[in-house]
This record gives sequence, C-alpha cells and structure tokens, in this order.
Amino acid sequence: MYRTHHCNELRKSDAGNTATLVGWVNTKRDQGGVIFIDIRDREGVTQCVFRPEESADAAEMSHKLRGEDVVQITGKVEVRPEVDGQSTFNESIETGEVEIVATELKVLNKAEVLPFQLDKELSNEDLRMQHRYLDLRRPRMTRNLRTRHAITKAIRDSLDASGFIEVETPILSKSTPEGARDFLVPSRLSPGKFYALPQAPQQYKQLLMVAGMERYFQIARCFRDEDLRADRQPEFTQVDIEASFVTAEEIYELVEGILASVFKAARGVEVPTPFPRLDYMDAMDKYGSDKPERRIGMEIVDFSEDFASSKFKVFSGTVAKGGVVRAINAKGFAKVTTGQIKRLEELAKEAGAGGLAYIKVEDGEWKSPIVKFFSDEEKAALTEKLALEEGDLVLFGCDQKKVVWDVLGRLRLEVAEMNNLYEGKEDELDFLWVVDFPLLDHDEEEGKWNAVHHPFTRPKAEDLDKLDDESKWGDIRAEAYDVVLNGTELGGGSIRIHEGDLQAKMFNVLGVNDEEQAEMFGHILSAFSYGAPPHGGLALGLDRLVMLACKEDSIREVIAFPKNNRGVDMMSASPAEVDFKQLRELYVKSTFEDKPKQQG
Ligand code: AMO
Ligand code: AMP
Repeated sequence: MYRTHHCNELRKSDAGNTATLVGWVNTKRDQGGVIFIDIRDREGVTQCVFRPEESADAAEMSHKLRGEDVVQITGKVEVRPEVDGQSTFNESIETGEVEIVATELKVLNKAEVLPFQLDKELSNEDLRMQHRYLDLRRPRMTRNLRTRHAITKAIRDSLDASGFIEVETPILSKSTPEGARDFLVPSRLSPGKFYALPQAPQQYKQLLMVAGMERYFQIARCFRDEDLRADRQPEFTQVDIEASFVTAEEIYELVEGILASVFKAARGVEVPTPFPRLDYMDAMDKYGSDKPERRIGMEIVDFSEDFASSKFKVFSGTVAKGGVVRAINAKGFAKVTTGQIKRLEELAKEAGAGGLAYIKVEDGEWKSPIVKFFSDEEKAALTEKLALEEGDLVLFGCDQKKVVWDVLGRLRLEVAEMNNLYEGKEDELDFLWVVDFPLLDHDEEEGKWNAVHHPFTRPKAEDLDKLDDESKWGDIRAEAYDVVLNGTELGGGSIRIHEGDLQAKMFNVLGVNDEEQAEMFGHILSAFSYGAPPHGGLALGLDRLVMLACKEDSIREVIAFPKNNRGVDMMSASPAEVDFKQLRELYVKSTFEDKPKQQG
C-alpha cells in the first residue's frame, strides 16, 4: 500500500497513530536544521517535520528534496506544539492542527525545477498551456475539474431520473448545418471523400426520435471551426437532449430542473424556478442582445417619437428615414474620462453607428454639444423616461433599429466593465429564457435567407402560412428558445419540424434545391416519411455552464487540455504537419504554399 491516508485527512483525533502519505513536495522550509515539508496530493496538504533525532537518515534525505519531488513519508501524527507560548496551528488548511513527525522518507521520483511557480497566478497563458499538466496541479484548476465532474454527474443523474437514455452518436459523420465551418477528415477507403466532425449531434438525435427512443441525451463532443473567444473552443461539450411528444413548456421545466441540480451540486445553492421569460424582440429592444445581462440595469429606452421633429437633425433625420433614437442612462457615470468616451465611441462605430451622442449630467447642467438643439419637451422626456439625476451619463443610439440594438447592447456591457457594475454581483444568478426567436434572417451580402437557429426548427403554428410569402419571411417566429445565465447563452433548442414536406419547404426557403436536398439531407427526409413523432430538444454548453458555476472568465479554465485562441494546443503542438506519405494514402494534396524564401 502506498498510503494510509490522503493529505487532507489527518486531524487531532489521529494523534499518536502512525501514518503514511504520498504526494508532491509542496513547500520546504529549513528552520535551523529542522526541515518542514508540506506534502500535497489532490485532496490537500499536510505538514511533515524531519528532525535528526527522530531519524537521521530521513532528515538527511529531506535536506535534498526539491519542490514537486514525489515522495512517500511515514511518521507519527502529533498535535502541533506551542512554541514560546504561541500556537502553531495553521487555520488556513484543514490538517492545520497536526503534523507528521517523519521517521521514513522514500523519494518515488525527482522533479526538475518547474518552468513556473504553482502558487502564483501566471499571465503567460501559452506557457501555462505548454505545461498544462503542471498548471492543472494548482488547487484552483484541480477544483475546477472536480466541479466539472460533479456537474456532469448531477446532469446524468437528473436526466436518468427523468427517463432519458444516453446514446453515443458518430464522431466521423456528415456535415450538419449549425452555422460554423466543418472540420473534415479525409477517407482512405473512399478516395476523395471526407467525413465531417459533428458541429452537434442534431440529425442523429432527431433520427433517434424516429427510431422510437423517445428520450435521448448525450454528453457530446462537438467541433466547430470558427473564430475563438473566451467562451468558444473549436471542440467543446454539449449536454444534448431530445424528446418525443413534448411541448416547449416541458423542455423548459426539464432544463430548469437540470440547472437547479447543477448549481446545487456545484455551489450548494437553490436556484428558484421557473425562470423568467423574455420575448426575443423585448430582449433586443430592452438590452440590445439576445443573451441579456440584466444584473447591470441600464435598460434601453426609445425616444424616436420624442425626437421625430427635433431641431437636432441627426435624430429627426434618422427617424424620418425609418430609424430609431434610443438611449441608456449610465447611472453615476458622468465621471467618464475622455479616453473612455473615445473607447465607447469606437465601439459604437464598430457596431455601425455614425458617431456617439452623449450627455453628462454634471454640476447641475447638461454637458453636451447637442443639447443646445433640444427643446424643453425633448429634455423633459429624457429626464423623465431615463430618471436622470446629477452624475448620470446618457448614451444615444441613432440609426436603423438593428444597428441601434447592437450599438446600445455593446455600450451597456462596456459601461458595466468601466464602471465596475459587476462588483458585489458575483453570486447573483440571473437565469432566463429568451423565447420566440425569428425563424429566418436575411443575409444582405449574400442575398439569401439563413436559419437563425438551424433548418430543423419549427415555425410557430400561427406563422406557418407566412412561409408561402417571401415578403413575410422576416416576421416568422420559431418554436425556438435559449436559456441564458448572466449574459451568457448557456443553451439553445427548439421544437422541430417532423413532417417531410414541411422540412423540404424549409430547405427550399433556405435556397437548398431538390437535388442538394436529396444529396445532403436525403436520409432525414426519408426518415420523416416513416412515421416521425413530433419532437424537440435543446443543447446546453457544458463548458460554459461549468465556467459560470466555477466563476471563471473563460471556458479554457474548465477544460483539461484546451486550445489557445489560435486553435493551437501548445502542449502537443497540434495542429502539426504530416508526412507526404500519410497524405498520399489519404489521396490528399495540400494547396498551401509557404511564402517564398526571401532572396539574398
Ligand atoms: P447551439 O448551436 O445553440 O445549438 O449550441 C448549443 C450550445 O452549445 C454551446 N456552444 C459552444 N460552447 C463552446 N464553444 C463553442 N464553440 C460553442 N458553440 C456552441 C453554447 C450553445 O448555447 N443542435 C443545437 C441544439 C438543439 O437544437 O437541440 C445546437 O447545437 O452554450
Ligand atoms: P454632428 O452633427 O455630425 O456634429 O454630430 C453631433 C453629435 O451627434 C456628435 O456627438 C456625433 O458623434 C453624434 N452623432 C452623429 N451621427 C450619429 C449617429 N448616427 N448616431 C448617434 N450619434 C451620432
């Protein structure tokens, strides 16, 4: 046996017993010839004392130990003594009242000097990732992975209790549209052909419904070749769910139950259910986002009518052209610096605005170059609807509605960062459903319609007949919903189309012609012709869920071996080049050419 106890186990009541621990040398201190070693395993740390009078050999060896050596230590458990009348108890660790007086030391393996210290936060993320196995030794990272395990287990238990069956679906599969690029895998046995890695198990889970499975789930790995961010990885995990003969209401209830059990398991908190619901249109109008962060206030207020005939032509002119004038009150942020205003202006322009009009309410007056154009009525409307007070900052968005959604949506979040509005709100959990998403979105550049969620999403029954009239496609609402927590989209789903003819019609709307339909989606269209039950489901982003439960800012902190934001695994240096021979076996030839070497 390597050990009798783990490193977070011994207490006062063990005093007098002999114990053997194994683990890593966490710290070593030399106090006048007496060596103190804190030994660490995944559970915690225990202090061990090496005194020459107890065991000359062990004490001698302990001098040579280095941080992160792997050791086995045996000795007597003792209550930590008083020194000069002072307690030596360490209240910051659970084994802090005891120590092991070591009689035996065995070095199981030596460690080189580490490339970074484990007890300090490290900003060089590439270095962390290059030695991720060391980074994961840090208690915070160990805790995150254990929380991930606890969450996954809570989800499995919860779904199992509700009669859901876990089924694995292929990783080598066929392209399924979820809005990102596919990762492709060349096939050696079918020259010139490729598998696609699944962006989601969407079609398989629907086919399982046709198969009569009724309630399916999977902790499913998904792959999407898209630009990476703090909450996006090229491979990530979904809690993928599908059920037959369900209404959206039943899915809300199921998912609320799962999320409540997750936060109970991870943080020991009770999450109140049901979650509030917000129409997509309301979410966009009030928060400028379909994943609203509501903890920060600053609801968007419309002033289009108030400024329809304003002397300020930027506003009245925009309204005349069918646009809107809207504003937020950044409460108490009149102290905004010139640099910050510049940054906000840049953001507004990135979102498509022509500029950023603002008013500082300061020293009893309105400081802004545009106020001189405002009438008394216009000023009164602003004061009243925004509840303006000394110290406030008004930020305007003035353009076509979609641009203003985006402008003010981004400004809200940036102001919240700048003005520390998240402070004290770390424990607040604002769950909500965003419902009634539009079914279709017009891509102006490509001149075609895209599915907002995916092509398998069902139009609302009331809007079905609008499918026959292209001028109404933009108004069709979908049986689609997202679950949002604190401004992050945790999951999304929909009730599906289960009729072959409706599915074919939907593909036609999306510009997929009959021939392409047969080739790309023949299997699903054919499956729908053999008695497909009404069905629907949802997928939760497991990484995002764990990130929020662990109060981390990036999903990289809750994934054991993540990629960096260039999609590179720094540790194994993948992606990597492969042999020409390997490519030839796969009938693949690269069109990539290195830049020609500079002459001279
Ligand atoms: P959707 O595309 O909305 O829906 O994805 C569901 C959830 O998966 C998470 N997610 C990601 N997490 C990390 N990195 C990524 N690159 C990434 N992309 C998505 C998000 C998101 O809410 N098949 C449908 C679900 C359904 O209709 O049942 C789907 O995949 O948290
Ligand atoms: P101008 O009349 O162009 O000098 O603009 C006066 C103010 O309105 C400036 O603060 C501009 O930044 C702002 N502004 C101009 N165009 C827009 C717009 N489309 N949306 C919001 N503010 C704007």
